[in-house]
Amino acid sequence: MKPIHVGLCGVGTVGGGTATVLKRNCEEIARRAGRPIVIRAAANRDLERARALVGADVELYDDALQIARHPQIDIVVELIGGTTIAKEVVLTAIEQGKHVVTANKKLIAEYGNEIFARAQEKGVMVAFEAAVAGGVPIIKALREGLTANKIEWVAGIINGTSNFILTEMRDKGAAFADVLAEAQRLGYAEADPTFDIEGHDAAHKLTIMSAIAFGIPVQFDKAYLEGISTLQAADIKYAQELGYRIKLLGVTRRRAEGIELRVAPTLIPAKRLIANVDGVMNAVLVKGDAVGATLYYGPGAGAEPTASSVIADLVDITRLATADPEHRVPHLAFQPSALADLPI
Ligand code: HSE
Repeated sequence: MKPIHVGLCGVGTVGGGTATVLKRNCEEIARRAGRPIVIRAAANRDLERARALVGADVELYDDALQIARHPQIDIVVELIGGTTIAKEVVLTAIEQGKHVVTANKKLIAEYGNEIFARAQEKGVMVAFEAAVAGGVPIIKALREGLTANKIEWVAGIINGTSNFILTEMRDKGAAFADVLAEAQRLGYAEADPTFDIEGHDAAHKLTIMSAIAFGIPVQFDKAYLEGISTLQAADIKYAQELGYRIKLLGVTRRRAEGIELRVAPTLIPAKRLIANVDGVMNAVLVKGDAVGATLYYGPGAGAEPTASSVIADLVDITRLATADPEHRVPHLAFQPSALADLPI
C-alpha cells in the first residue's frame, strides 16, 4: 500500500529516537497503521547530525518551514520545541492541509486553542500524546479509555527531571545542581531547565490533561505553579522521617467554582503507590465516576519512550486519514463541552 510520508522537524533526542524506532519496528507499525509510515524529509540546524540519525535516503533541510510546505509530506512532526518557529511551522503545516504530531507541551498548553481551531477549519488532525508524560499513553487513556466517565480529578508526577532530582537527593544525598546537570546530560531536561524545576513544564502538561479530562479550552495562564528549586536537603530528610515523600504533583479537579489547576511540591504518605514513583518515571492517577481511581505509570522522558508516543500518534493519524472522512473525528484534540464556560 502507498506509504504515508512524514516530515520530521527537529532531529534531537526525540527526533533521533523516532527515526530509530520507526525503522526498527517498521513491519509491525505498517501492519497496525494499515500503510507503511516513512520519514521522507527532515529539518535540523545541524545537518550532519541529522544525516547520521535519519539515514541517507531522507531529504534534509535546514529550514523547518520547507517541511511544512513540502508537497509530498502528509504528516509534519514538530519536535523543535518553544513557541516561535515551532508555532509557525505547525500553523503553516495546517494551512497546507497537513496533519501535525507534536511533542511540544508549551505550544499546546499556550496556543492549543488557536491551533485546534485552525486545524478544525482545515479538516486536519493535531495529535500530542508525546507532550504529556513521555512514553505513558495518558492522552489516549483520558480521551479513549476513560471516555465513558465523568472525570473527577487527575493528579500526577509529570516532570521526570524534577522527580529524578528529588529521588537522587533523597537516596544519595546528592546536591541539587549535580543531579540537574546529570538530567541534562541524559537528555531529560528542557533546553532551559528552569522550566523543569520551577513547575512550568508540569503545569503545561497538567493544562493539557485538564482540557481533555474536562472538555475545556487550554488555560495555562490560570494555573497555580510552584517548583522544587527552594526545597532543601533537610525538607526531604524530615519528610522521610515523618513517613512522607515529597513529589512535585500536578492536580486538576472539578470544584463547584470551576476547574482547579495546581502544581506544587506535595507531601505524600510513603505507603501510597504514587509516592514510590522514582527517578525519571512519571505516574498519573485519574478518578472517573464509573471506573474509580486508575493509575498510569512509565518513563516520562527520554528518546525512545517519547518516540513511542510520537509514533502512536502517527499510527492513529494514518488510520484515521485513511478512513472515510464522514466517520473520522475532526481532530485528535479535546471535544469542548458545556464545562468550557466554567471559570477556572
Ligand atoms: N523535561 C521534561 C521532563 C521532558 O523532565 O519531564 C519530558 O517532557
